[in-house]
Amino acid sequence: MFKKLRKIIFPIAKFFFDKYTVKERKYTYEGITVQINEEVFPPKFTISTKILLEHIKPLNIADKSFLELGCGSGIISLFAASKGANVTASDINQIAIDELKEAAAKNEIDVNVVYSDLFDDLTDHTFEYIIINPPYYPKAPQNDKERAWFCGEDFEYFKKLFAQLPTHIAPNTWMILSEDCEIEHIKQLASENGLSFELILQKSVVKEKNYIFSIQKS
Ligand SMILES: C[S@@+](CC[C@H](N)C(=O)[O-])C[C@H]1O[C@@H](n2cnc3c(N)ncnc32)[C@H](O)[C@@H]1O
Repeated sequence: MFKKLRKIIFPIAKFFFDKYTVKERKYTYEGITVQINEEVFPPKFTISTKILLEHIKPLNIADKSFLELGCGSGIISLFAASKGANVTASDINQIAIDELKEAAAKNEIDVNVVYSDLFDDLTDHTFEYIIINPPYYPKAPQNDKERAWFCGEDFEYFKKLFAQLPTHIAPNTWMILSEDCEIEHIKQLASENGLSFELILQKSVVKEKNYIFSIQKS
């Protein structure tokens, strides 16, 4: 019962928390600071970004090619680049793209920032790491800001992603999901495109279970 209730309340709470918090915010990780425009996914209140940052922290990714697909503020991209990775950061939100270019310059970190709807404009790239923190609530996004949260009423984001991914898949293709979302349905959509999920990390924060899955060709 509690689990069912939190599935309804949590996404709404997250969305409105974000809507009514101060307009321009900062987020700092390991000495790297990004401004969080109100149109861009806020990494501070949500915990998924932090879990991915901590997961990447111990890795030796120097000289590795690294894609953050749907980069938002780009804090993960900047951190990976600060560890020596050759980073591409992509997003469909033009404000996120512009802000990340500014943040990269301010932090003096080199990141290739690309406007792209999923892999549409990343066709000639291959990567050793692909990191995805997807929007997963099944509702149609009304604008770019909402694309950070909503994957379409019929999971259109995942359908397109999993149709493209077999061509682009990296040895390390990682996706973070929460127990709040419809994981079994998302896994099923992946399997329809010959992809399987392997759990590589489970972490509970404020009683919300988060999972990092490695995605592979089945
Ligand atoms: C949950 S946020 C994650 C942001 C960032 N990776 C992080 O962990 O803080 C999802 C991001 O995916 C982006 N996104 C949504 N649909 C997209 C699409 N079709 N193509 C590229 N990016 C997309 C959103 O604009 C948003 O920045």
